[in-house]
Order: sequence, then C-alpha cells, then structure tokens
Amino acid sequence: AQLKSEITIGYNKDAPVINKNIYGHFAEHLGRCIYDGFYVGPDSKIPNTNGVRNDIIAALKDLGIPNLRWPGGCFADTYHWKDGIGPKDERPEIVNQWWGGVTEDNSFGTHDFLDLCETLGTEPYLAANVGSGTIEEFTDWVQYVNHSGKSPMSDLRKKNNRDKPWGVKYWGIGNEMWGCGGNMTAEYYVNIYKRYVTFMADWSNSGDLFRIASGANAGDYHWTEVMMRDIPKHMLEGVALHSYSVIDWSNKGSATKFSEEQYFSSMKAALFMDELVRKHSEVMDKYDPEKKTALIVDEWGGWYDVEEGTNPGFLYQQNTMRDAMIAGCTLNIFNNHSDRVRMANLAQTINVLQAVILTKGDKMLLTPTYHVMKLYKVHQDAKMLPVKVSSPEYKFGDKALPAVSVSASQKEGKTHVSLVNIHTSQSVTTQINLDGIDIKNFTAKIISSGKLQDHNTFEKPEAITPKEFKDFKFKKGVLTVTLPPFSVVVLEGN
Ligand code: AHR
Repeated sequence: AQLKSEITIGYNKDAPVINKNIYGHFAEHLGRCIYDGFYVGPDSKIPNTNGVRNDIIAALKDLGIPNLRWPGGCFADTYHWKDGIGPKDERPEIVNQWWGGVTEDNSFGTHDFLDLCETLGTEPYLAANVGSGTIEEFTDWVQYVNHSGKSPMSDLRKKNNRDKPWGVKYWGIGNEMWGCGGNMTAEYYVNIYKRYVTFMADWSNSGDLFRIASGANAGDYHWTEVMMRDIPKHMLEGVALHSYSVIDWSNKGSATKFSEEQYFSSMKAALFMDELVRKHSEVMDKYDPEKKTALIVDEWGGWYDVEEGTNPGFLYQQNTMRDAMIAGCTLNIFNNHSDRVRMANLAQTINVLQAVILTKGDKMLLTPTYHVMKLYKVHQDAKMLPVKVSSPEYKFGDKALPAVSVSASQKEGKTHVSLVNIHTSQSVTTQINLDGIDIKNFTAKIISSGKLQDHNTFEKPEAITPKEFKDFKFKKGVLTVTLPPFSVVVLEGN
C-alpha cells in the first residue's frame, strides 16, 4: 500500500530564526583536509590564491558557508599557533601525533586560515589548545588576531604583514576534554575553562567574544549539567556537543558497500540527534530558561571505515545517498531545534569523514552532502516555521524508524520546506497543510538516485546533483508531494 504522511506547517511569531551558523563546517589538520585539500601551496600548478585552491574557494562561496572551525579536533590540543606564523621557510616542522603520524611543515597557519575566511566571507571559529598549551599561549593568540592597539602580539602581527586585526569572535576552549583533549572529568575541566576565560581579554573591546566550552560526548548529559551549573553565565556563550552517525566504533563498515541493515543502523544513529538535542536542551533549560547559552554541535556526520588502500589515520571516505539522508535529516533536526542549537559544524569539509568536497590531484568533486547543504542554504537566517508530522514507518526486520523528516522556514517573502524520505523501497505521499501561510505557487528540487550506494566519482562527478522536481500538487492551501525512496526534496513557495 502507498505510504502516507500528514504534515502541518504554521507560522508562530515567537518561533526562532534559524541561525545561519547551523550550516557551519570544520577543517582539521587531519589527513588531506588542509594539506592536499584546501592547501596546495602558492607554487602548485593547480590554480590557487595564496596556496588555497581556487575551485574549492568557488565551491564553498557558492555553498555560503557561514563559519569554519579550525585547526581541530584532537589536533587543536597539540597545536602551538606560533609555529605557524612568520616566513614559511622558517616555520618548524611538527608531527601530527593524532592523525597518521605525518610530518607537517606549518605552511598553513593562522594568517592562511584567517585570510581564507575573509576570502570566503565566513566567520572563523578557532579551537584553542587547552590540553597541551598554556594560558599565556592562548591569550597571546587572542591578542595577536584581535588587538587593534599597540601590544606585543599586535606588533608581531604587523611585522608579519597584517595591520588590521581579523576580529575573531568564536573561540572553543579546548576540544573533547573528556577524551583526546586530556581525558578529564567535567568537574576538573570546568575549573580549567574558567581559568582560561578569566584571562581571555576582549582586545577589540567589542564585547562580542563567543566562548564555547568543550562539550559532551553524545549522551553524556552529566557533562552539560556541570558546564551549565558551574560556569557563571557571563563567562559562557556556548556549550558544545559531538555526535557521529556511526554503526559500531569497532566495525564501522564501508562507506560505499553497505547492506540495508547497515543503512538502517546509520539512520538510527543520525536520527538519535533529535533525542540528544532535546535532552541536552532540557538540562540547559534548568539553568538557562531564557536560552541565552547556545548548544553548539561542532562535530557531526557519518563515520565509516576508510577507503581501501588509504591511510587509516586520514579518515578518507566516499559519500553516497546514505550521507545525503544523514545530512537532510540532521539539518532538519537542527532547524527544528534552532531555539537552542545556534551553531553546528559538519565533520569535515574536504577529504575527511562526511566531506562536502573530495579532491584527487587537480580534480575535485562535490558530494551528495554538498548538494543537500546547498539546497538547504535557504534556511540560513530564516524564520523557523514550526512543523507537526505524522510519519509512516520505515521498517527493517522488527525495528522501525520514522520515514519522513521535515523542516520549514520563511525569509524575504519566500517559504521553504525541506523533506526527506529515508525509506529504501517505498515512496511516501505527504499531505502538507499550510496553516495560514499565503502562497501562490511552488517550485521544487530533488536529490535522488537509483541506488543508495550511488555516489559521485572523479570520472562521473555529476552523477548525483539536484534536479527539477514536479511530482507535487498545490490546491487550496494543501500541498501534496510524492517523495521517492531515499530522496531529499526542497520546495520554494512564493
Ligand atoms: O573529526 C575527527 C575527530 O573526531 C576529531 O578530531 C575529534 O574531535 C573527534 O573525536
């Protein structure tokens, strides 16, 4: 029988605006994300701007990435930023102890990253070294990038040919402090956080620093409780959360050769984000009912075994329609919880985990995840429209998940509805009641493919791209859309 879903979308003047920073990205010194990803060096034959590939700059501009987190990840708590400034040939080499044990020459450092952010028109989000760094090193970094007056660090910046400070607003105080950041308890870290933040002057005097406490590992609600309870409000703008869609950490499975059972498990892990966000928000509500502190999901995405023949420490994986499903559903979850989730960072931008871009030599491809994020760009800074969904089940054996996921928003007189059907074999007819929303007509785009395992390759980089979609009707305020199996559809109403 045909599967059916009923959805109501209404307008609520008190609903939040979907913060564009939910559509943020993450670039770590890991595998081929920075070196041989973003950065090929100014002498490369690949067209570049100050060493960063021009094709990547163009693709990310087109995607409208609102913020970029750097330099890690686990790498951040080993990174000494002074190694990465000054003349490139004088920078020391380091060994990347977390990822593949490779030697790096520090040719991509603070200037390279912050200049790239300026080129992209994106907000930088710096992750500070708390694990193996010092407070002095940290406060120097803040002074170096933010102080406009005369100071030891602004003098050094000027000596390195940058007059104007960059004005970095977003700062992570360490990364995964419960793990690679130092294996700390929440109770221990909270004191360290307060020490770091106490000495972190606002050199720009803008009062605009956004300080983010390293957050919980998935369902560790106690961690969030301690951050919210023990850090005074005036010292905290955001609490982080990391959660990956992983089947089983000891057996993650192939990114491209997966069974339906593995697909089901991946989707279950992705949809668990809804429970995570709700429960962490409940803890935050206890201490912050006005929702002043943001929940920052600064690492999310699908994580599989590395592609055969690649360095296991480089986390290089392909990106299929399964990843499009993960991206579509997760972004719908963030949109629907945008009262509390005000930033998120997909891991990671290029050649690592659920990447939006893959490169090989001078070739580059955009993954299905890129295309989902591009279609969803319309939600950035748009007024969220609350949704009510009754979804049919996607069953696998004796287990079931809701097949349909949705979010909606309004901006500049346009209404956008993003729908995902994760069912592997059945289409779903969704009847959408647009409660009091005046729309004359709709247009739509779809991302779908013949097989779940389909992906873009360097030989066929455009196998999966968004297409025009016409399988919908709009009559008397009711929109009826037939969603094919494993598809993402974004509708625009005028
Ligand atoms: O994104 C890869 C790694 O996953 C990050 O370095 C770390 O923070 C997380 O465990």
